[in-house]
Amino acid sequence: MTDGQADGRPRLTVIGCGYLGATHAACMAELGFEVLGVDVDVERVKSLSAGRLPFFEPGLAELLSAQVESGRLRFTTSYAEAADFGDVHFVCVSTPQRAGDFAADVSRLDAVVTDLAPLLDRPCVVVGKSTVPVGTAERMRQRLRQLAPAGDAVALAWNPEFLREGHAIDDTVAPDRLVLGLAGGDDPTTEQTLRAVYTGPIAAGSPVVVCDLATAELVKVAANAFLATKVSFINAMAELCEAAGADVTRLAEAIGHDERIGRRFLNAGLGFGGGCLPKDIRAFMARAGELGAGDALTFLREVDAINQRRRARVVDLAGELLDRPWPGARIAVLGAAFKPHSDDIRDSPALNVAGRMHLLGAHVTVHDPKAMPNARRTWPTLAYADTIDDACAGAHLVLLATEWPQFRELDPAALATLVDTPALVDARNCLDPTRWRAAGWTYRALGRP
Ligand code: UDX
Repeated sequence: MTDGQADGRPRLTVIGCGYLGATHAACMAELGFEVLGVDVDVERVKSLSAGRLPFFEPGLAELLSAQVESGRLRFTTSYAEAADFGDVHFVCVSTPQRAGDFAADVSRLDAVVTDLAPLLDRPCVVVGKSTVPVGTAERMRQRLRQLAPAGDAVALAWNPEFLREGHAIDDTVAPDRLVLGLAGGDDPTTEQTLRAVYTGPIAAGSPVVVCDLATAELVKVAANAFLATKVSFINAMAELCEAAGADVTRLAEAIGHDERIGRRFLNAGLGFGGGCLPKDIRAFMARAGELGAGDALTFLREVDAINQRRRARVVDLAGELLDRPWPGARIAVLGAAFKPHSDDIRDSPALNVAGRMHLLGAHVTVHDPKAMPNARRTWPTLAYADTIDDACAGAHLVLLATEWPQFRELDPAALATLVDTPALVDARNCLDPTRWRAAGWTYRALGRP
């Protein structure tokens, strides 16, 4: 390692300033590092340089503008500037599902290596944070060394992120674990450099797991596969509860008291969506198949299928509850984001269900506290209302699709005066059925009588 900050700490670049990268860059600056964010998107760089966050994440807009103001955080489109500045380069580009199959598209990662490596002419560490098919890191390491003038003085490490949207800052500055994947045979100072970057979180108690590159890559997808399985497990129980007339929310509470099981991530409902869980389990299956270990993950097909079935079931349930045919029925959908405290609508179960009902001929009006601009752009055929009241006025059915606090706290008696028919599908099991029924509503939910 050469250069560094005046205080001896390494200078950091963050390549790819989407959700993960923008959060990581702002948080590292907050931890006292000089950080240069790099992105190929000129508009994004302009916006971030002006301290404007191009998406919603609680607390992050304030953090970003404060760090830009402090001078510790800058953004650029120039790889030459990044190579010159950085001692540690965090790579945070996205790896979306490839068009036409389940595998992950790693072309953005490859492009970073192609553009950055020829400019690396002094010792540095490249740290992958993107979610990748196992084996990608080793391939990247070889290419970096081939292409970089500094050759073997360029080390590659893998440090997967586990941040949840809505909790991105906490998950970055106080992660519940730090995984440091290191290549055997690399400079032993690489681990020290990474520990220096994370001195604050480590001192505050975040445990560190050191492992090889392949294990670090797998940790991320294994964690997401487990979480997806947990959600689909409770949703499968919801299917059984529906068949048997039992209550999945009580069931989750009861099994959750067993410490080996735990109550978290056992909320039955419309299932998982977002930019990570759905595509990560598919990419994991695809990679396992390539490795000849496809049998080990066939259960994830079922996890995916259970998750998809919930979306279809919600539409059926709404159809059962409607007192009229779909064409012309007025439906209010509360929620567009894939989960609360986010404006992310990627693979959003809420919009998937809204879209299906629209295709059945219903007039669907959506309201969401944060995700309306994104939803409008992507689903222009749906109607949108700026307030809950406007969305529900004259509705023949209300569907709660994302469990925002604003929706949980709704007053059933007041809402009943606005709608045409007080019929409600609580697709997130987040309302009190007794209270809603007492206010005159026909209440239906998934996995509950
Ligand atoms: C996830 C992982 O949690 C995170 O560690 C990883 O880095 C990225 O993917 P995120 O996509 O932000 O994070 O959302 P998360 O809070 O994990 O929820 C995922 C989905 O599962 C959401 O659609 C949520 O509504 C759903 N979910 C979650 C349930 O349906 N039931 C639950 O009990 C929990």
